[in-house]
Amino acid sequence: MGGEKTSVIPRHVAIIMDGNGRWAKKRFLPRSAGHRAGMERMIALSECLFRHGVSFVTLYALSTENLSRPEAELSALFSLFREYFTQYAGRLAETGIRMTVIGDRSLLPADIAEKIAYGEEKTKNGTRGTLVFAVAYGARQEIVQAANALGGRHVSEEGFSSLLSTRGIPDPDLLIRTGGEMRLSNFLLWQSAYTELYFSKKMFPDFSDRDLLRALKEYARRDRRFGKVGQ
Ligand code: IPE
Ligand code: IPE
Ligand code: MG
Repeated sequence: MGGEKTSVIPRHVAIIMDGNGRWAKKRFLPRSAGHRAGMERMIALSECLFRHGVSFVTLYALSTENLSRPEAELSALFSLFREYFTQYAGRLAETGIRMTVIGDRSLLPADIAEKIAYGEEKTKNGTRGTLVFAVAYGARQEIVQAANALGGRHVSEEGFSSLLSTRGIPDPDLLIRTGGEMRLSNFLLWQSAYTELYFSKKMFPDFSDRDLLRALKEYARRDRRFGKVGQ
């Protein structure tokens, strides 16, 4: 035997939920309709992952760079966040899921930051799984902030990780990006050093539970060598 046996079910799945705007455009709908459809899909997909034994789910909902999108689109997104973080926190609490948010909350409207804090408080005792939302999140900003916090101190990799917003959360095992682009767009750059990447051409609102299971199946077939010699 020997060697590290990686689990067939990833412990942590991260998703770059991309393609809402193009999904809407194809249907002659406003981009906001794509974001709403995306939110519904997001709820179902995260439930599906927890049902399959995944412990951590991280969802990229808004990047630092997305904050320079037109005002109308941002306000539609913010309305959806308001709705989600208030209405859905109760349901998460009931199902034993703890929610937390990574990103720079000071860049968000104050009432959203409050709703996030409410959701985190309401779900803090959840032990079945952790749902991490990346909102106003940028990996480079996160890394620079950690470097500045060091103030010249020397630390180990673990020490550095503990200065990131993801402290206490294991690195993602599987990262899925929908929408057809094959890039990370400033998402979890440090944490995804050895993450398995999976790209789907489907726009996020079209990414079904079945598509997700296909990604999990593909993950189970991957040989994660972490730089070592394979079996
Ligand atoms: C992803 O969908 C959601 C956010 C970035 C907020 P997009 O809004 O980027 O949709 P496309 O990529 O333009 O289709
Ligand atoms: C990445 O999607 C960010 C989120 C899904 C939240 P973008 O649509 O912003 O990425 P780019 O601009 O295509 O790289
Ligand atoms: Mg996009």
